[in-house]
Amino acid sequence: MKLVKWLGGAAVGASLLMIGTSAFAVTIGFSQVGDEGDWRPAFSKDMQEEAKKEGIDLKFADAQGKEEEQLKAVRSFIAQKVDAIIIAPVVTTGWDQVLAEAKRAGIPVFLADRDVDVKDKSLFVTRISADFNLEGRLAGAWLAQASVGNCNIVEEQGTVGSAPAIERKKGFEAVISNFPNMKIVKSQSGDFTTEGGKKVMEAFIKATDNLKDVCASFAHNDNMQLGAIQAMKEAGLKPGKDVFMVSVDYVPAMKDALAAGDANASVELRSAIGKYIYPVITEWLKDKKELPKWVVIPSDLHTAAAPAR
Ligand code: AHR
Repeated sequence: MKLVKWLGGAAVGASLLMIGTSAFAVTIGFSQVGDEGDWRPAFSKDMQEEAKKEGIDLKFADAQGKEEEQLKAVRSFIAQKVDAIIIAPVVTTGWDQVLAEAKRAGIPVFLADRDVDVKDKSLFVTRISADFNLEGRLAGAWLAQASVGNCNIVEEQGTVGSAPAIERKKGFEAVISNFPNMKIVKSQSGDFTTEGGKKVMEAFIKATDNLKDVCASFAHNDNMQLGAIQAMKEAGLKPGKDVFMVSVDYVPAMKDALAAGDANASVELRSAIGKYIYPVITEWLKDKKELPKWVVIPSDLHTAAAPAR
């Protein structure tokens, strides 16, 4: 099948590929990580709603946090001869083979949100996502000024091997390494979930005599921080007052925690990003113009003290 002409969504109310004299809706397969936390389901919902608006036939596959499920989903999209594949990869490794299969089948792959670690960058067209390293640096910079560069930190890491866990940690550490009296004293993965964050904070509380000498909790996402807040309250501690609480996502429950004074800062990871992702893909399907390997979506820092805008 040969793509000979493109009609934009605005003109015909749908994203259509012209093949010969017939118009077909663009079919895209989307392999999503799962539904952990509050951010991910919001992202999935947005992707589905935006696809509808754009007239895109979206085949959505929830991998339930398992990379092997993603590999199956991608192979099934290849078999279905979709026009493009979007992957939000659970972890960065293990992608070379399946991406090569998609390339051999002539199906372009786009990364959304998370990154992959592949030698051959031609295996995907581009990645459309926020800068996780910047998010870690923003969290670290906020904490450096709030603690005046003196802080023992406990860290709740995201899913081991995932791009946001790797990059947020790196970015945060890059900033605090400039301050000799800032250091991470405990660090453990809470797998990006509320329950995981709660368990990890319970262990930190035990191991540090009720967070004695701990000045801050840095969580790689809000849900783990919300779990940490629960654990601290159950231990009679005052999160946001006894201990600085800084995390990433800025989900509605974290906005409430910030307003209640239980948390101090959250870096926003936008979830309504279908409007950034689909136009990149549909334009590329139209003109195949080479794209930069990363289309960056901005991230913003929100603090409890910041006036409403
Ligand atoms: O990949 C982005 C991260 O994944 C979000 O920060 C987290 O909430 C989600 O699980």
